[in-house]
Amino acid sequence: MEHYQNTGDYAREQDEQDPLKEFRSRFIIPKKNNEEVIYLCGNSLGLQPESTRSYLDRELKKWGDYAVDGHFHADEPWYHYHKLLKAPLAAITGAKPEEVVVMNNLTSNLHFMMVSFYRPAAGRYKILMEGGAFPSDQYVVESQVKYHGFSPDDAIVEVFPREGENTLRTEDILEVIQTHGDELALVLFAGLQYYTGQVFDMEAITKAGQAAGAKVGFDLAHAAGNVPLKLHDWGVDFAAWCSYKYLNSGPGSNSGVFIHERYANDPDLPRFAGWWGHEEKERFLMRKGFKPMYGADGWQVSNANILPLAAQRASLELFEQAGMERLRRKSLKLTGYLEYLLKEEVNSTDNHIQIITPPDPEQRGCQLSLFVEKNGRQLFDHISKAGVVADWREPNVIRVAPAPLYNTFTDVYRFARLLKQAVKEQQN
Ligand SMILES: Cc1ncc(COP(=O)(O)O)c(C=O)c1O
Repeated sequence: MEHYQNTGDYAREQDEQDPLKEFRSRFIIPKKNNEEVIYLCGNSLGLQPESTRSYLDRELKKWGDYAVDGHFHADEPWYHYHKLLKAPLAAITGAKPEEVVVMNNLTSNLHFMMVSFYRPAAGRYKILMEGGAFPSDQYVVESQVKYHGFSPDDAIVEVFPREGENTLRTEDILEVIQTHGDELALVLFAGLQYYTGQVFDMEAITKAGQAAGAKVGFDLAHAAGNVPLKLHDWGVDFAAWCSYKYLNSGPGSNSGVFIHERYANDPDLPRFAGWWGHEEKERFLMRKGFKPMYGADGWQVSNANILPLAAQRASLELFEQAGMERLRRKSLKLTGYLEYLLKEEVNSTDNHIQIITPPDPEQRGCQLSLFVEKNGRQLFDHISKAGVVADWREPNVIRVAPAPLYNTFTDVYRFARLLKQAVKEQQN
């Protein structure tokens, strides 16, 4: 139990005692009117590490110095470059290095994963997902279902919160899995829901889905680098995430995928193949007949995008130094402080702002979603003008996500004060 205090001195003290405090200076914090903004938007686009430029420069120099020979003859040759990201990503996702690979973008990867793991048959063709999933996931599922000749209305089962509740109960998810058990081909859930900030019980969902005979996959866009993951031990079939949010790899940067070891050596598993997934020792023999690499590498399609991979390495290096355990410890405290201040500062003045993210720290990451009953957009614009960078999600939510790698207790304190001020001014 933390004994938080609603004072600037307390926030500064926490920052001084923060064992991860030095990491903030390794990021570029945007400025507005010559003052650092209060950046609480790592759930959308993570900040740029100072070292990103040198990681990129190294590859640009290699390109300049060696051109095509950079593939094989330079230091860290591009042919194997993607392997440099495996160990740090495996540590972040709770995977074995051979179970992860960085490739493509998130939505593309969800499609690629479904080619292998959504194999509908006459009686077993349904997909279970959370109601109100991120639109891209909805479009992926809708188009996949149609592609296989099924009707989305029949084949997609969505679980919604109970009347009057904002988030899902695990028991309700498990019950729906049981109800549709014989017909379920796939359970595709977010790990952390983008709108509410709820973390789902991925282990329980995996076990229940698989016990029903379905495959189970997760979209970890908001979970990777944010909450502890144990994808291998949970037995998850597959997962995919993007790297531009908590993984700070730059706008539109590459996605990562996890494919459980049990599929590592299964050349018969259907997949959409390309030359980069082909056994690397024979890739340049240019022969007919696709022979997949062992593990997640066998799902690669095109040759690796080196510049985004280089950008990602800059951030993964920071994750390795900070460690997910320490990051999570700070995150629990920082988001707990945000929750405490919002209750103190904002709810005491007006109740029209409600935190819809679960109060149980185990069921959330760093993000809190603030449901604003009226004039939410105006309130959001108001705090944005005052130097806060957060984000607005239609129809009623302001998302704020203090990222433990670079946010401070003072950021959170200043944000809560500004929000209180903005609410007051709105009331006048
Ligand atoms: C949960 C979730 N899924 C999918 C996407 C889409 O990602 P991309 O545009 O990289 O395919 C996003 C993007 O923010 C997301 O938040």
